[in-house]
Amino acid sequence: MSCILITGGFGYIGSHTATILSENNKKFVIVDNFSNCKREIVDRLKMCTNDNVAHYECDIRDTKSLVKIIKENKVTSVIHFAALKSVADSIINPLEYYEVNVNGTISLLKAMKTTGVKKFLFSSTAAVYGEPDFCPIDENHKLKPLNPYAQTKIIIENILKDIVKSEINWSIVCLRYFNPIGSHKSGLIGDDPLMAKNSNLMPEIIKVVRGYKNHLDVFGDDYGTPDGTGIRDYIHIMDLSEAHVKALDFIDKNNGINFFNIGTGKGVSVLQLKTAFEKVSGFNLPIKISKRREGDCAICYANPKKANEILKWNSKYDLSQMCQSAWIFVEKNSK
Ligand SMILES: NC(=O)c1ccc[n+]([C@@H]2O[C@H](COP(=O)([O-])OP(=O)(O)OC[C@H]3O[C@@H](n4cnc5c(N)ncnc54)[C@H](O)[C@@H]3O)[C@@H](O)[C@H]2O)c1
Repeated sequence: MSCILITGGFGYIGSHTATILSENNKKFVIVDNFSNCKREIVDRLKMCTNDNVAHYECDIRDTKSLVKIIKENKVTSVIHFAALKSVADSIINPLEYYEVNVNGTISLLKAMKTTGVKKFLFSSTAAVYGEPDFCPIDENHKLKPLNPYAQTKIIIENILKDIVKSEINWSIVCLRYFNPIGSHKSGLIGDDPLMAKNSNLMPEIIKVVRGYKNHLDVFGDDYGTPDGTGIRDYIHIMDLSEAHVKALDFIDKNNGINFFNIGTGKGVSVLQLKTAFEKVSGFNLPIKISKRREGDCAICYANPKKANEILKWNSKYDLSQMCQSAWIFVEKNSK
């Protein structure tokens, strides 16, 4: 039976993807260094996957250990989530981002080369498009990184392009995610980062709901958008996770490298998301308008047609369902 190595599998997207892989009877092994997840995620994920959670505490920069894990588990493909992901933090600490994201990926690819594993699914990001020239953004849009985080993802995409040219039989897919929100239906796992420096919108909303903050910071209300706040393509985490199962099927059947946008194709502003969340939760979210954040663009939403047609993947959940599922996670974990 084939076995999938999931790096960063205890993080937000990795853990939700693991539940879907488990539902699809896929065997996997997780590698994570616990730098951005709570230890309790291990037991919680076990509850969502019938105890199906083989794992190692390991840093992806430790090539030797990765080789050992790949051999021990007869790994046949890799989903690579492990990375640092805060745009704001990457501007302050660029070296850390190049070190973990770029060097970490090189270490993983070296371990794959040593062991002859050539199937690779990479977590890229819509941030590679920067301030878009047009929306919805398709995969041929120019890459214009606005921050070191996005730079690291482009560097990795370029490394992957060179790898498929250098050796036959590599099969690589880069999924460029838009903005995942929400949680697993059990409410056991959700977007629950360890690092205070992560500042995605939904975790920030949840901090206000839990009383860790007394208002939601809205960075900029003077963008050229209908309500002046930034527009993003929010996608339910389970829809995003499902795309990985489809991408793995594609990888099994196709060599070379392919890029896919994973979003809904719908733009939603910060204030629209806030209102949708208030509606499902009944919670009032006070806001504070601050100046724009460096590294943020005004409008960014996907053209997901390529993934719809080639991967046979479609998003199913609407904004209200996304907020509902984020709210379930808050309600079940209000300590
Ligand atoms: N969440 C988003 O909005 C978003 C959007 C676009 C792309 N992405 C990308 O998707 C991937 C997963 O994102 P996420 O939201 O699940 O992030 P996350 O921080 O929740 O998960 C990443 C996991 O990787 C682990 N990790 C970090 N560095 C590691 C290392 N050196 N060795 C081993 N494990 C390490 C962390 O402990 C964590 O469990 C990342 O590559 C991220 O850049 C995320």
